[in-house]
Amino acid sequence: MEQKKNMLSLIQPTNTPHLGNYLGAMQNWVKMQNDYNCFFGIADLHSITVRQDPIKLRAQIKESYTLLIAAGLDPEKSTLFVQGHNPNHAELSWILSCYTQFGELSRMTQFKDKSQKHPDNINAGLFTYPVLMAADILLYQADLVPVGIDQMQHLELTRNIVQRFNGIYGDVFKMPEAYITKATAKVNSLQEPTKKMSKSDENPNASVWILDDKDTIIRKFKRAVTDSEAEVCAREGKDGIINLMSIYSAVTDKSFDEIEAEFKGKGYGDFKLAVGEAVAEKLAPLQNEYKRISADKSYIEDCMKKGAEKAFKASRKTLSKVQKKLGFITI
Ligand code: TRP
Repeated sequence: MEQKKNMLSLIQPTNTPHLGNYLGAMQNWVKMQNDYNCFFGIADLHSITVRQDPIKLRAQIKESYTLLIAAGLDPEKSTLFVQGHNPNHAELSWILSCYTQFGELSRMTQFKDKSQKHPDNINAGLFTYPVLMAADILLYQADLVPVGIDQMQHLELTRNIVQRFNGIYGDVFKMPEAYITKATAKVNSLQEPTKKMSKSDENPNASVWILDDKDTIIRKFKRAVTDSEAEVCAREGKDGIINLMSIYSAVTDKSFDEIEAEFKGKGYGDFKLAVGEAVAEKLAPLQNEYKRISADKSYIEDCMKKGAEKAFKASRKTLSKVQKKLGFITI
């Protein structure tokens, strides 16, 4: 029997996931779990490169983790874990940082962006963030890493680290590849439709959180920025409408042509309401499931523990191999 390929991806628990995280990542992960040996996790260690409120962070780690299960990931089939529960991440990260050049890290655009955003807290973790991400990926010998375009540069760096490390020590790490699905919907901000929907957007109408209730979702879509024409079509320059059409298409599986036909002669008000309702309907099963599982605290704790054990076991092999290759004495 052919061995299943390993797939790994993590999300940061910095806010409730938004519609873009769901349609672009979580929903696709669920489809992967039969075909791949999946590792999906919550990147709590990464999240503290920016100051977090401890009470909020704790709640968000739990919430994000629960949402993975509510979205349909099966903790028996896949390894669902919290990064910080497995000490191997921090350990391999230190080792890999000695195989990563200062110059390489200085070129990372996310580092440059984030240091501009938080000029009062340009900490070393923000700088070495991509090394920790490389450790996440390489510990589990991931073949495939589903990532958004914003993380491609970090994955490229990971590949450089593999080449360098394997060049010295032989085949220690598998060379990971980006997994990009064409079907993935691009979801932009409802207020600035040329920008990606973002977890850190301060405009409360810009992002739809996946736990928003129906009224809130509809209200946000009603306030979405569009244009002064009144034609639902994907013409150039109609970024707001195109964004709404992509979202509507992603949640209803209707094509752009079908959507244009459906709203021919109707105003934006009707269209926005339809998108809001369709999104709310799409999220309802996930939200119900979230309510159901989060009521059972010991279930989530249990899943976290089992996930941590599975993650530890799977990754320890790689770390031991690395230690031996380096000349460390393992006892
Ligand atoms: N840096 C990723 C992000 O912000 C999250 C992440 C951490 C990740 N470790 C990873 C993604 C490993 C893929 C693989 O989106």
